[in-house]
Amino acid sequence: MDSFEFNKIVAAIILTVVVVLGLDRISDLLFKVDQPTVSGYKVDLDTTMTASVTDGGSQLDLQAFFASASVEQGKSVFKKCAACHSIKKGGKNNIGPALYSVVGRDVAGVTGYKYSKSLVAYGKQWSVEELNGFLLKPAKWIKGNKMGFAGLKKEEDRASVILYLNANGDEPITLP
Ligand code: HEC
Repeated sequence: MDSFEFNKIVAAIILTVVVVLGLDRISDLLFKVDQPTVSGYKVDLDTTMTASVTDGGSQLDLQAFFASASVEQGKSVFKKCAACHSIKKGGKNNIGPALYSVVGRDVAGVTGYKYSKSLVAYGKQWSVEELNGFLLKPAKWIKGNKMGFAGLKKEEDRASVILYLNANGDEPITLP
């Protein structure tokens, strides 16, 4: 191979690289628009959702339920819960039990917290459906429990706070 031939090959390689990088740039520019803002959490929750659908025999349409919910809204709804509950990893029991990783956990599953008898006897897991029913009207969903909270009337508030619980109190992802 003479050096001219060799130069042609090098030039071809460089050209290819430039074209590929260029296309990548162009497609970045073209498709930059609709980046989902909370994709990380949505994906995470999918596993919980399928699990809870199968074990709960649920009537709840989860896609519709979460359609207008957001971790961000959940964060502000959780202010109502924060008087009695911690959510962060390593958070302590307060008036209510620590809620870190509560989605999917056994009801009354925190060791070292003194639950009411009715919560201990309930014997289920905190699926999305159970959380939704409980948070709508705690006193009605599990009779005799001692959570002194009236409930969240708005479905969107319940869905959002469940997303926030599932994210374990993380800040919502904000993409640049
Ligand atoms: C006035 C205090 C208070 C407020 C406000 C409150 N809770 Fe509770 N919560 C409790 C208590 C007390 C219990 C334990 C109930 C029992 O043992 O019967 C509890 C239990 C729970 C449980 C069951 C946990 C487990 O380990 O089984 C969940 C889930 C829960 N609360 C979520 C919430 C959410 C979400 C909010 C806000 C929308 C909230 N709570 C607001 C006091 C409160």
